[in-house]
Amino acid sequence: MTNKNKTLGEYIIENQKNFKYSSGELSRLINSIRLAAKVVNHEIRKAGLVDITGAAGDINIQGEAQQKLDVYANDKFKETLINREIVCGIASEEEDDFVIVEGNNKKNENKYVLMMDPLDGSSNIDVNVSVGTIFSIYRRVTPVGTPVTIEDFLQPGRNQVAAGYVAYGTSTMMVFTTGHGVNGFTLNPAIGTFYLSHPNMTFKETGKIYSVSEGYFAHFEEGMKQYLKYCKLEEGDRPYTARYIGSLVADFHRNLIKGGIYIYPKSKTSPKGKLRLLYECNPMAFIAEQAGGKASDGYDRILDIQPTELHQRVPFYVGSKKMVEKAEEFMAKYKDQ
Ligand code: AHG
Ligand code: MN
Ligand code: MN
Repeated sequence: MTNKNKTLGEYIIENQKNFKYSSGELSRLINSIRLAAKVVNHEIRKAGLVDITGAAGDINIQGEAQQKLDVYANDKFKETLINREIVCGIASEEEDDFVIVEGNNKKNENKYVLMMDPLDGSSNIDVNVSVGTIFSIYRRVTPVGTPVTIEDFLQPGRNQVAAGYVAYGTSTMMVFTTGHGVNGFTLNPAIGTFYLSHPNMTFKETGKIYSVSEGYFAHFEEGMKQYLKYCKLEEGDRPYTARYIGSLVADFHRNLIKGGIYIYPKSKTSPKGKLRLLYECNPMAFIAEQAGGKASDGYDRILDIQPTELHQRVPFYVGSKKMVEKAEEFMAKYKDQ
């Protein structure tokens, strides 16, 4: 990354007019996420040196053990957004309920709510493998100046005004969309600045990578089993390559760059899938579509699902368009088996 590249700060200023509703508020919000991402990145990079790996001792509302970095990332993102009075509400994987953000004068005039998975792939922290942060932004639907309600969060994904992720990998990248394509920025850690390294990111129409935890094969539905067999057949451009990191952000990011499909299907033990609609699937689906890819629950478009609860789970098929369509074909064909 050279300083010839545009910085994220410059990009935000130049593109403010392209943001939906073109208010400075959304730019300020993206700026705050950029700041929190740098703080969390700094902590993650120290993970092996300080006592930050391992379980925090609590179980989140979804019955998962919270890791210390889950809690740390959640607190840092929340703190940054609340201190800047930039949103009127926050929902997070690590919070049982949504958080109402009140302004100093108890009258919050902000229009946006943010949902997040502050630390995605947390089982990878202790083993020095990539993790990420996912965020999703909506305009509130209830009147400005009143406390947010659940209605502001339970919006279909197609209403998103911005979404993105931060990948803490061999380098740290922030990738996001405001509905005008997808751009990726790489952090230069020496000076703490994100540079536009991946302008206009697009999914290849088809690819050669499939990312599924096949260990659960015996628990999958027939359509999924048949699709996995298809991936391994020697025919045409197959067999495909299997790649599964166990961090949605990292798996998605690789497939976005190389072409591929990521699937977290439903199974006997996870009848609704594992991933959460509001702060994992919807933001990734918005990015995928903006990059020319596709996202579905195996049958229908993710972004059209009307959410009914904050921590709702959904099966997730995302990536190169033709690959997602092929998987859907198998799901439809074996639907009743
Ligand atoms: P989180 O760490 O936020 O709970 O998310 C983990 C998710 C996702 O990132 C990953 O792809 C998937 O869980 C891995 O689940 P399995 O271990 O069941 O494959
Ligand atoms: Mn996650
Ligand atoms: Mn998480």
